[in-house]
Amino acid sequence: MDLTYQEKKKRLEVFLKKYDYDEKMKDFILNSLSTNCMCDVVSQAYSACDILEENDNMYLEFLANLEKYFTLDHNIIDVGGGVYPALATYIKEKQVKLKTGTITVFDPNLVVNKLNGIILKKEAFTEKTKIKSCDLIIGTYTCEATIPIIRNARKNHIPFSIALCGCTHFESQKLKSIPYLSYHQMQYLWNEYVMSEVNKGLPNDMEIKIDYFNNIKHPYPIITKTYKK
Ligand SMILES: C[S@@+](CC[C@H](N)C(=O)[O-])C[C@H]1O[C@@H](n2cnc3c(N)ncnc32)[C@H](O)[C@@H]1O
Repeated sequence: MDLTYQEKKKRLEVFLKKYDYDEKMKDFILNSLSTNCMCDVVSQAYSACDILEENDNMYLEFLANLEKYFTLDHNIIDVGGGVYPALATYIKEKQVKLKTGTITVFDPNLVVNKLNGIILKKEAFTEKTKIKSCDLIIGTYTCEATIPIIRNARKNHIPFSIALCGCTHFESQKLKSIPYLSYHQMQYLWNEYVMSEVNKGLPNDMEIKIDYFNNIKHPYPIITKTYKK
């Protein structure tokens, strides 16, 4: 369905009024209609308003990849789900059809208090977060939550699937400030660092799968740690 600029703007305005977005973020999201900036908060809002182009919908692509390895009839935690948890809404829809499974979102910046039966935790996820009845941890563009997810999942012997983002999130100040390295060199170091954490203490019953989005705008790996079949 081809919507005009005005129709898209109207949908976004109605959506943005419903939730606790601050004024700057509202303007940023509305302006994206002219700037074509497609970052996380924009794609979350577009997805909620059903104006996200199929090509740009990495939530659905991530979900299709996830379903290669897992069924959704589980207790799933989406870490860093976003200010508006777009991926979780797609998962909840599928779980409603399956009549089973839960989806919990951790994000300290959530702007929603209640959403379609999704369990919302407006807090940071850490490697120590208690995840008793969780079967699977997921996340798209997990930023600072990347290493906590990997370590928490390792400690609890739980599978995970995460799509890395384009930035680096080293914990050590030394690694954060290596001089003279280009963006791509830092990105390479970050990927190596993440993979070393992923492979640490890999149990015999688990394996690692690496996939990529089809969309060239998202060239970062989707890393999945899953039980061997
Ligand atoms: C790049 S955004 C990606 C959001 C969403 N997954 C998406 O793809 O649209 C990263 C998100 O991670 C959240 N975040 C960062 N550190 C976190 C942590 N330790 N626990 C939970 N969420 C965190 C941020 O608030 C932000 O919303």
